Amino acid sequence: MQVHVADHPLIKHKLTYLRDERTDSPTFRRLAEELVTLLAYEATREVRTEPFPIRTPVAETTGVKLANPKPVIVPILRAGLGMLEGMVRLLPSAEVGFLGMVRDEETLEVSAYANRLPETLRGRQVFVVDPMLATGHTLVMAFEFLRDLGADDITAVCLLAAPEGIQNVQEAVKDIGIPVTLVVGSVDERLDERGYIVPGLGDAGDRLYGVV
Ligand code: URA
Repeated sequence: MQVHVADHPLIKHKLTYLRDERTDSPTFRRLAEELVTLLAYEATREVRTEPFPIRTPVAETTGVKLANPKPVIVPILRAGLGMLEGMVRLLPSAEVGFLGMVRDEETLEVSAYANRLPETLRGRQVFVVDPMLATGHTLVMAFEFLRDLGADDITAVCLLAAPEGIQNVQEAVKDIGIPVTLVVGSVDERLDERGYIVPGLGDAGDRLYGVV
């Protein structure tokens, strides 16, 4: 698995405000969206394109356009929704599917409770968005789910990751059989005993949408 950790002052700047507990939900949502757009630039480096002949006012030339079938963006509900808009802005012709995963706060086990995805993802590049890579269990389950539907290349975009989570994902995807790439805004210090990323930003879903 390839891991890219963004090393850009603008990303660090925006992450700092995102982490700050004084940042309110509307500002948090805006910052998350801006951050995703910056991370998506790196995440889409290998997006598939095909030649596209055009004529400029001066000459004929061949550029590129996104290849068919178009990529699929999959936000992991609910917090991944906060990253969807930024991703779609960069890939407006991508399709969007949804995957609902929930974590048992006691056991930290993850299970799927909803999915709205194309019937098959055969031959599709998939971009999974989920703000927090904590234990990594959610991402691994999502990867296996998407691979079983036929996805042949998966890139996950996360705002923050814990080192333990990255290691878990790295181990788990060794046998997944398709290329997997991870793009993260920052690798934090550790997970605490409740499974929260430290220093992190708290519960991403709650901060995006208020506590429900
Ligand atoms: N999920 C969150 O929203 N925050 C964490 O720190 C870990 C998992």
